[in-house]
Amino acid sequence: MLAVIGGSGFNRWDALHVTGRIDAATPYGAPSAPLVCGRIAGREVLFLARHGDPHRIAPHLINYRANIAALRDAGVRRVVAFASVGGISADLQAGSVVVPDGILDYTHSRAHTFVDEQVEAVTHIDFTHPFEPDLRSHLLTAAAAAGIAVRDGGTYAATQGPRLESAAEIRRLERDGADLVGMTGMPEAALAREAGLAYAMLAVVANDAAGKGESAAAVALDGAQARFDAGMAQAREVLLALLRSDAEAP
Ligand code: HPA
Repeated sequence: MLAVIGGSGFNRWDALHVTGRIDAATPYGAPSAPLVCGRIAGREVLFLARHGDPHRIAPHLINYRANIAALRDAGVRRVVAFASVGGISADLQAGSVVVPDGILDYTHSRAHTFVDEQVEAVTHIDFTHPFEPDLRSHLLTAAAAAGIAVRDGGTYAATQGPRLESAAEIRRLERDGADLVGMTGMPEAALAREAGLAYAMLAVVANDAAGKGESAAAVALDGAQARFDAGMAQAREVLLALLRSDAEAP
């Protein structure tokens, strides 16, 4: 089964035909919200609002382990994570949709692993390609089929938040090779890998990152709302195209 983790701007999936809700309990506590079970485009899916519904949990306070454990325990195999991000690369504007292929992790003090007890043999998961390549390529094919322009690839920098970055921090992220910046991709992606879930991201640019373009003087969030909403609508279309192509698969 496929799960969708909705982020800022996608706390509730109005188009989903809801068939049930699961109040999941995990050894790590409760997830951000009940898992919403539903049908759309002929497929059964689960939806989880990463920040809760209504949006109330800040990025550094999200119980990422409970979220991923709850999805795994519900039988999920693939996760499409929506993320709102700041654009660092010059070709990214508010409303751009990106399917990233790399991660830089600047978060700290978050429960970031399921390997938290004395174990007999310590395992080190492979994280060379943090976003699962097959699921990424299915998203790109779905976007092409739906006629929606998405950027194929880009490095997502995960920052601690909840404050936005300084212009100097964004310059550093850029020197490090980051194209986009958000606050929730880690440890979410790594936990999904530990749990054996195929995880890929649809990132929607909400604003130019601090110090860039429209955010030269201050991060321009409000002025870009309409473009962000349009980008989110496009990202949801990509998701629908993915589910339709799943439904057609033999
Ligand atoms: N920085 C970090 N996270 C974000 C931003 C940003 O500029 N915009 C949306 N999420």
